[in-house]
Amino acid sequence: MPPSKRIALLGLILAPAALAHFVVNVPPPLGSNIDNEDTAPCGGFTPSSTDNTTDFHVDGDAIGLTTLHAQCFFAYRGMLGTSLTSPNWTVLIPTIEEFGLNSFCEPSIAVPSSWAGSSGLLQIIQDSEDGIHYQCMSVNFVAGKGTVPSTCTNSSGVSAQFTSDNTLTSIESGSSSSPSQTSSSQGTSSPTTSQPSPSTSKGAAASVASLEMVSGSILAGLLCALFNF
Ligand SMILES: *[C@@H]1O[C@H](CO)[C@@H](O)[C@H](O)[C@H]1NC(C)=O
Ligand SMILES: *[C@@H]1O[C@H](CO)[C@@H](O)[C@H](O)[C@H]1NC(C)=O
Ligand SMILES: *[C@@H]1O[C@H](CO)[C@@H](O)[C@H](O)[C@H]1NC(C)=O
Repeated sequence: MPPSKRIALLGLILAPAALAHFVVNVPPPLGSNIDNEDTAPCGGFTPSSTDNTTDFHVDGDAIGLTTLHAQCFFAYRGMLGTSLTSPNWTVLIPTIEEFGLNSFCEPSIAVPSSWAGSSGLLQIIQDSEDGIHYQCMSVNFVAGKGTVPSTCTNSSGVSAQFTSDNTLTSIESGSSSSPSQTSSSQGTSSPTTSQPSPSTSKGAAASVASLEMVSGSILAGLLCALFNF
């Protein structure tokens, strides 16, 4: 294989990880920068008056993102106002474990109905194999239920389930106004019963393990091919 082709192939393998860990698309985020994505609470961005502020319906609205990790956990939180000095985040749905690359759309995330008429922030936290990553979105909470934009979709092969993740639970506990060390508190702070219900899969742990082995051997095979081992 000519060296130029090797470099191009290597670029293909490494490029996605160099762009971002995940990017929120709907509603638009404050900003997205791989270098700061590990910085809490908003990936290195702070809300400002020039933000792209989107209406978000309190009875359920869509949050769509692109993930470049084949398996990860997501926390969805929201708060009134935009001051990050002492943020009072509310956990909106239980922790989600997501499988599969590219687009992942939660079509109907609800916030407390009393938030309608106020501005605020939404936050997504990703716990993945290489760390914790953050994105925030500036929104105007409005009454009613939103419609799912055509840009909010699931890529084929994407699936998700509610779960519990110690790392996200401890982040949630640390910044909550009523700290709790029990993971069971996650579900109780959900504002409505009309949560999205990702499919549940009891064999998830086993399939994650085998998925990692498969992707590991594909990567090993590609690297061997590249360097003619
Ligand atoms: C605001 O968000 C919309 C939708 O994602 C996007 O098309 C537009 O370019 C954004 N504007 C700014 C100033 O970021
Ligand atoms: C935090 O937000 C929740 C949900 O809106 C609210 O019930 C609670 O009173 C707030 N706590 C503080 C200290 O503002
Ligand atoms: C994406 O997949 C999740 C998990 O299966 C599901 O809850 C959600 O409704 C799907 N999103 C769309 C837009 O169909």
